[in-house]
Order: sequence, then C-alpha cells, then structure tokens
Amino acid sequence: MQIIREINALRRAVAELRIDGGRIAFVPTMGALHAGHMALVREAKRQAAHVIASIFVNPTQFGANEDLGSYPRREAEDAAMLESEGCAILWAPDAATMYPAGHATSITVSGVSDGLDGAARPGHFAGVATVVAKLFNQVQPDVALFGEKDYQQLAVIRRLVADLDLPVRIVGVPTQRDPDGLALSSRNAYLSPEERIAARALPRALVEAAQAMRDGGSVEEALARAREDLTAAGFATVDYVELRDAETLQPLAELTRAGRLLAAAKIGRTRLIDNIEVLPLP
Ligand code: PAF
Repeated sequence: MQIIREINALRRAVAELRIDGGRIAFVPTMGALHAGHMALVREAKRQAAHVIASIFVNPTQFGANEDLGSYPRREAEDAAMLESEGCAILWAPDAATMYPAGHATSITVSGVSDGLDGAARPGHFAGVATVVAKLFNQVQPDVALFGEKDYQQLAVIRRLVADLDLPVRIVGVPTQRDPDGLALSSRNAYLSPEERIAARALPRALVEAAQAMRDGGSVEEALARAREDLTAAGFATVDYVELRDAETLQPLAELTRAGRLLAAAKIGRTRLIDNIEVLPLP
C-alpha cells in the first residue's frame, strides 16, 4: 500500500491504478480506525477492483469547543489495518495541503444539514461537505462508502453529490456495533469503563422507543421516554432524540412511513450519536 501526502503524487498513483480499467472505491476517514471502518473497506472491495482510503482530521468540521486537539491520531496502526485489508493507496494529506493559504471556499448544503447535528454543531456539515467535495476531486473515485452511523452526514453527502453532479456513487454501510449494542465510533476511546457501561443506554433507548412506536404508542411520548432514560442512565446532556423521515430527514410526527430515529447525547466529556431504522407496521 502506498501512503501519499502530495496531490500530484496522488494523481499519478490514481492514473496508474486506472490503467487496468478497474473501478476505484474510496473510503474517506478521519483515522482512529475500528471494525466499522474495516466493514467499509471490505464493502469497498466488493464494489471495485481498487480501494483508496483517506485519513484527514478535518479542522473545518470541528467547532471551537470540540475535540480537534484531542481527536485520536494513530496513523501507523491505521495504515497497517488498511494494508491488511488490501487497500491500494492511503491518501494522508496534511492541513496545509488541504487548505493552503488563501483557501476561501465553503459548501453549504441546506435542508438536510439543518436541525439535529446541524443545530448542535453549527458549521459542522459545511466543513464535511467542503472536505468531502475536495476529497472526491482529488481521488476521483467511481464509488464512495460512508457509515450509516453518521446518518445525517450520509444524507448531506448524497444531496451534495446530486446537486453538484459529482460523478461518484454513494453507498451507505450499516452501523457496526459491539455485542452490547453500542455503535462503533472512534470517540468510544474517550469513555471511562463506567461511562462505557452506561453508554449502552443509548442504543437501548432507541430500540425501546422504536418498539413503542411500532406498537402504536405516541411518537412524542416515546421520544420523551427515551430522553428520560438517557438522563437516568447518566448522560449529562441529551442534544436530541428525534424521529425523522428516513430520506428527507424532515420531522415525522407519526410513524406513517419509513422513519429514522436519531439521537445525540453527552456522557462525561464524550458526545455520542446513534440512529436506527423504524418502519411502520405493514
Ligand atoms: O465521517 C468522517 O470520518 C468524516 O466526517 C469524513 C466523512 C471523513 C469527512 O471528514
């Protein structure tokens, strides 16, 4: 696996990969890789002949009081994991390569970026959309893979690609979970052993709320109960627990069509997000 840090070298390496006519799948990441990322790489291998992954901890998607400085960085271990899964190229630019002096362009995707994490983290999705558009232009993949754990991010990227006619197919990959249900996330590394146990309440609250809705209970009551359960389990703040339309992410007051139940809550200093599908009874 080649580790590349300069754009011209990346373009040469991508051109060489393309000589055999094989398609290229791309897995963008911020590193601190775990089994969830490896599921993306394995799906990428099913989708294309060659896999390129990127590691870039993108400063523009972090708010002023967020964890940019402490975000886990372990490139050597990440590179070993990607190589063992058969990745051809690791694209690992530094911040000056991604945002050279004078960089002044930002992409805002309205609608799907509003509310949920867009409200809790102002500017976050503009940072994501801008860096993802840049990464797509740099790597020029045929297909790109993103985890459903960041469900709103996936919706923003699908909108970005459709609106800017970007020639890449977006594939969403189901969330990978630990056996107790907690969604895999690089930020789980911040959790103390006690917080890690308490964090199980997040997927449990979602599953119970989804079940209550499917049993015909009121959506509003199920969401309120989930928020109470999270607080009782030790979550310090609950940013949101909401039912949204699975495609448009517009609020859903009743489970009349395919929905997505999304939550974000903070335990100790760690903000966790999760979401599950909720389908109405046939
Ligand atoms: O999901 C992530 O890891 C990041 O938001 C992404 C898509 C790599 C953009 O920085």
